[in-house]
Amino acid sequence: MATCPDITRGTPDDLDRLQPLWTAVHHHHTSVLPALAPYVSDATSWAERRGLYDSLLAKPDTVLLLAHDGPELIGYGLAHVLPVQHTWVADTWVAGPRIGEIESLGVLLSHRGAGLGTELLTGLIEALRANGVEDLVLGSLVGNPAISLYERHGFRPTWIYLSRFAGR
Ligand SMILES: CC(C)(COP(=O)(O)OP(=O)(O)OC[C@H]1O[C@@H](n2cnc3c(N)ncnc32)[C@H](O)[C@@H]1OP(=O)(O)O)[C@@H](O)C(=O)NCCC(=O)NCCS
Repeated sequence: MATCPDITRGTPDDLDRLQPLWTAVHHHHTSVLPALAPYVSDATSWAERRGLYDSLLAKPDTVLLLAHDGPELIGYGLAHVLPVQHTWVADTWVAGPRIGEIESLGVLLSHRGAGLGTELLTGLIEALRANGVEDLVLGSLVGNPAISLYERHGFRPTWIYLSRFAGR
């Protein structure tokens, strides 16, 4: 259990260190919705996710927070900022010109339940606010217990994707 984890700001150089953390999120996702199997392998999942993070970390407003327990990375959060214009938000809700997306939040299974996810989420929200971004969105799998954590921080269920993976 982490007693006093250290949270620091990450850089694009940390990208490859995120692999085990993302893989833990991927494993969690497969367990939340087993009925939607088959899922991609860990290697494919990371290759896809690495590409996404690579492009997000190239943007100037992206925030990567890393939680350390000594030399080990035990959690992370990643948020980025995008223009609201021409999005599903702008055509329906009154919002500011830029919106922050909490793209990822993950804590290693062995360190969950000790407040680290809350600290990372709060840190992302504060970093975005310091950059003038207060409108926020995030995506979550239906049924993910993390939704209650987000709701405690003011997020509300807003938009649901339905999938029909009939071509696989
Ligand atoms: C979501 C996550 C980052 C929270 O990290 P954490 O360090 O356990 O968070 P905290 O200890 O600050 O808070 C735990 C709270 O989160 C909620 N929670 C989120 N995911 C949970 C899970 N898988 N199991 C149990 N509780 C979970 C609980 O409601 C809990 O509330 P409580 O304090 O009333 O018990 C972590 O559970 C995780 O990595 N989950 C797998 C990946 C994931 O789902 N990420 C979010 C994708 S949208």
